Amino acid sequence: MTHYIDVAAMQQLVSHHGLANLMEEIAECIREDFMRWGGSNQSPRTATAFGVVADVATGYPTLVSELRITTALRTAATSALAAKVLARKNSHSMALIGNGAQSEFQAIAFMTQLGISELRVFDVDRKATDKLVANLAPYASKGTLTIVRAASIREAVRGADIVTTITADKSNATILTDDLVEPGMHLNAVGGDCPGKTELQPSILLRSKVFVEYEPQTRMEGELQQMPQDFQTHALWRVLAGQQRGRDNAEQVTLFDSVGFALEDLSALRYIHALSRKLGIGSTVDLVPVLPDPKNLFACATAARPALRQAA
Ligand SMILES: NC(=O)c1ccc[n+]([C@@H]2O[C@H](COP(=O)([O-])OP(=O)(O)OC[C@H]3O[C@@H](n4cnc5c(N)ncnc54)[C@H](O)[C@@H]3O)[C@@H](O)[C@H]2O)c1
Repeated sequence: MTHYIDVAAMQQLVSHHGLANLMEEIAECIREDFMRWGGSNQSPRTATAFGVVADVATGYPTLVSELRITTALRTAATSALAAKVLARKNSHSMALIGNGAQSEFQAIAFMTQLGISELRVFDVDRKATDKLVANLAPYASKGTLTIVRAASIREAVRGADIVTTITADKSNATILTDDLVEPGMHLNAVGGDCPGKTELQPSILLRSKVFVEYEPQTRMEGELQQMPQDFQTHALWRVLAGQQRGRDNAEQVTLFDSVGFALEDLSALRYIHALSRKLGIGSTVDLVPVLPDPKNLFACATAARPALRQAA
C-alpha cells in the first residue's frame, strides 16, 4: 500500500508537531543528505504539484504527498541551514523583501534556527505585509520577534545582518542593488528560481562569496544566470561536510543563491513519510495491484466490486 498525505494530513502534522519543529527537523534531514552527496547521483528538480517517493529496486510508490506546504517548509529549512554556516554568528536582524506565500516560513525558520529577533519587512503590496504581520502576531506578542514595517527596500535592508529576497516577478528584476549591500551581510536570495527570473544586481555577485545547491541547475535558474560560465561558486554541501570554509571573515558578503533542489524535496518527503507513519497521520491507497498470480492480471481487473451508484 502507498502512504498518502493530502492537505488535511499535512495540516494535522503542522498542528501536532509545530511549523518550527518541522522545519528544524527537515533542515537536519537535508544536512544529512547533503553530507552524503558523493554517494548519490544528483539531478535538477522537476517541477511537480505533488511528491512521490518510490522504492528504487521495484519502482513501487511508497509515498504520495502534497508538495505545496512541503516546498515552503523545505525552502525555509534550506535557507536556514545555509545561513547557519554562512551568516555571522551574532546575526539577530533580517530584512525580508517579499511578504507573499513563502515569507512567514522563512521568518519562523530564521527566528527559531538562527535566533533572529528583529524582522524588517517590505513588499510593494501593502496587503501582503498586512497578512505577514497578522500571521506572525503570536510571535510578536510573545516578545520573541520584533517586526518592523519598512517604507522601502533601502530602509528594510539598512543595518540588517541577513537579507532575504523572496519576491515573485517573472523578469530580471532588481530587488537589491549593490549600494544597499553592507560588508558582512548574508544574502539569502530565494525568489530567482527559474530561467529569466532574478532579483539581484549582477555587481552584488561580483563582491560576494556565492554558495549554490547544485551548480548546473543554479547556472540556469539562479542569480548565476547573470554571470559568465567561469564565475566561481562554492558548493553548500562541501561547507556542511566540513570540506570547505563558508564565510572567510566578518566583513565578507556571503550569498546563498537558492533555487530549490531535488535532493531537498526528497529529504523533506522522507522526513514527512517517517513522521506521519509514526504519528498515524495520513491514509493508504492501493495504487499498484499485488497479484497472487503475476500472470493473471485479468482476474485482478475483473474481480467483483460493488456496483457503481447511478448518477442522479
Ligand atoms: N528557491 C526556492 O527553493 C524557492 C521555493 C519556493 C518559491 N521560490 C520563489 O520565491 C518567490 C516567492 O514565492 P511566493 O510563493 O512567496 O510568491 P508570492 O507571489 O506569494 O509572493 C511574492 C511577493 O513578492 C512581492 N513583490 C514583487 N515584486 C516586489 C518588489 N519589487 N519589491 C518587494 N516585493 C515585491 C509581491 O507583491 C508578493 O507579495 C517566487 O519567485 C518563487 O518562485 C523559490
